[in-house]
Parts: sequence; C-alpha cells; structure tokens
Amino acid sequence: MLKIAICFILAYLIGSFPSGYLIGKLFFHQDIRQNGSGNIGTTNTFRVFGVLPGVTVLVLDIFKGTLGASLPVFFQVPGKPWMIIIGLASVLGHCFSIFMHFKGGKAVATAAGILLAYNPPLFLFAFFLFAIIILISSTVSLASLISLPVLTFLIWRTHDPYFLFAAVLVTIVVYIRHIPNIKRLANHNENLVHIGLVYSL
Ligand code: G3P
Repeated sequence: MLKIAICFILAYLIGSFPSGYLIGKLFFHQDIRQNGSGNIGTTNTFRVFGVLPGVTVLVLDIFKGTLGASLPVFFQVPGKPWMIIIGLASVLGHCFSIFMHFKGGKAVATAAGILLAYNPPLFLFAFFLFAIIILISSTVSLASLISLPVLTFLIWRTHDPYFLFAAVLVTIVVYIRHIPNIKRLANHNENLVHIGLVYSL
C-alpha cells in the first residue's frame, strides 16, 4: 500500500511539471498563460514560441504520462491496472498542477503518454489519427475532440475495464477542458495550425 501511495504522489508531482510554462519563462521570458489560447500545452507553445519549443513540450508532456504509468513497474507493484491508475495521477497533476496554483493543461498529451506505456500499438494509431485530422482540418482541438471518443470505442473493444474507465474519464476531462475550444469551433473562429505554424482566422 505504501508503494502505491508513493507512486501516486510521485506521478502527480511528475504530471505537475509545467513544461510549457517553464519553457516560456526560461527561454522567452514570457508567461505563456498571457498569450494565445492561454493554455500551457503543446499547441499553444507552438502558437506562441514556435516549432522547436512546441515539440519539446509535446515530448515532455507525453513523457510525464509514460513515466507516471511506468512507476508501478519500477516499484514492482503487481497488477497491470496500476499502470493506468497511477498514470491518471500524472494527468491529474498536468491538469491541476501543484506548481501552478492547481491550474494546468488540457490532459491530451499526458494521457497519450499513459497510452504509450500501456498499449504502444494503440498509441501509434492515436498518433496517426491525430495527425490525419490535423492535416485535414488544420485544427488541433478538433483532433483532440474526435480522437478521444474513437479511442474510447476501441478501448471498449479490448474488454479491459480499468483501461475503459481511464478512457471515459480522460474523455470527459478533455471535453470539459476544451469547452472554450468547442465554443470557438461553433463560432468558426478556432485557431488553426499549418505546418507547424498556428494562426487564428
Ligand atoms: O490539446 C490541446 C489542444 O486540443 C488545443 O489547445 O491551445 O488551441 O486551446 P489550444
């Protein structure tokens, strides 16, 4: 039980690491929350600081989920479901960071990190699905909003109750965090992305 508690706290702290905020502050002396969509995630980092910082935040935020989900393996906690439950603690940290007054990102990249640790083939599928939707629509939020239900459906087909629970929970969180995006999509003024450059119509 102690190991599980340690894993949970560590995963939450790892998830709390505010990659986008720190890159903005350290390399550009700007608070990303005051720019673009105000989100501290990958898309807004691309939008505000460019491709390299955006890719860096993407890798770091995915890694937070992968590392969190891998902690039960490192701590030799038996039972694969713990990967999911502890991984969710990283998503919790990403969305409600202890270092950001319990505010944070929109869950997508860190949740994808859990997928990478737990089911790499499904992560690859999600990656390509995400990329195709962005190529077609030039809209990252739309890719997030479409990919999550599709993945949840596929996860339902795996008959893994913990995996399905996590997928449903993450989908709900992602939709709640994307309410401003959904409003912009409905008003046809959502930010678009083109070959690494993000702009607003
Ligand atoms: O996952 C975040 C993305 O879907 C939208 O980010 O900055 O456009 O709100 P943003």
